[in-house]
Amino acid sequence: MTEDEKIQEKLKEGTIPGHVAIIMDGNGRWAKKRGLPRIAGHNEGVESVRDAVEACGQLGVKYLTLYAFSTENWKRPLEEVSLLMRLLMRALRDETDKLHKNNVRVHTIGDTSALPKEVQDELIDAIDRTKNNTGLNLLLALSYSGRWDLVTAMKQIGSDIRNGSLAPEQISEELISSRLSTGNVPDPDLLVRTSGEFRISNFLLWQLAYAEIYISECFWPEFRRNELYEAIRSFQHRERRFGMVSEQVQPLTLTAKLFKRVSGI
Ligand code: FPP
Repeated sequence: MTEDEKIQEKLKEGTIPGHVAIIMDGNGRWAKKRGLPRIAGHNEGVESVRDAVEACGQLGVKYLTLYAFSTENWKRPLEEVSLLMRLLMRALRDETDKLHKNNVRVHTIGDTSALPKEVQDELIDAIDRTKNNTGLNLLLALSYSGRWDLVTAMKQIGSDIRNGSLAPEQISEELISSRLSTGNVPDPDLLVRTSGEFRISNFLLWQLAYAEIYISECFWPEFRRNELYEAIRSFQHRERRFGMVSEQVQPLTLTAKLFKRVSGI
């Protein structure tokens, strides 16, 4: 067994978050610190994406959502936006075979119609080729923002009410969740943000309601599997109370642990 496999086995003795969401931040600062152009940071960031996807798949994480390009990122200098789009297209083209081989299923959330046609084509291809995979679900948030997601869902709900297929009394948390771009994907258990910033930055605003937040001081290009393991270790030491008190959740946690030990799930 390799050292990495041993670390993973140890982590698997605890609860592995079902859904990890990551705000990949600090590519520009990583590059600047080295006197390199910002795109060099994004390039190196792709290596961290590869490592995070691989490690999450091996650990049995079911969903990994990556904030790859926000609605606000369109306001960056045109040159950086074009280079990022090209990088995205190349990464999809180069990585889809390996993702498929590793049983990863690719999805997107966000206003992908705003992306250049070539990127949309690569995405359609990756989504289609991996659609029957049963391992890690990789959600790429592209041209995404939490407010965009909510506005889009509200428009849909409003239109259903207007045409009579939905009554206002039927609006529930479950209904709103199902109309968001994440659909039936369970909410994130763990939100990781790199580069030491304490912000949500218009990411999954509704879906992050009960997520545990982990801030890493690393810039994204430095965030490799060992940092991810640290985030999961920190998650495993949290007590998730979902608004209840400690005494209420302790028996539940113990039951879940016992079930895990007995069933091996
Ligand atoms: C944030 O760093 C990073 C981004 C806006 C882009 C993230 C994109 C990648 C890692 C590459 C492509 C992704 C995939 C899924 C293949 P920043 O530029 O905001 O850094 P700064 O805050 O230091 O300026």
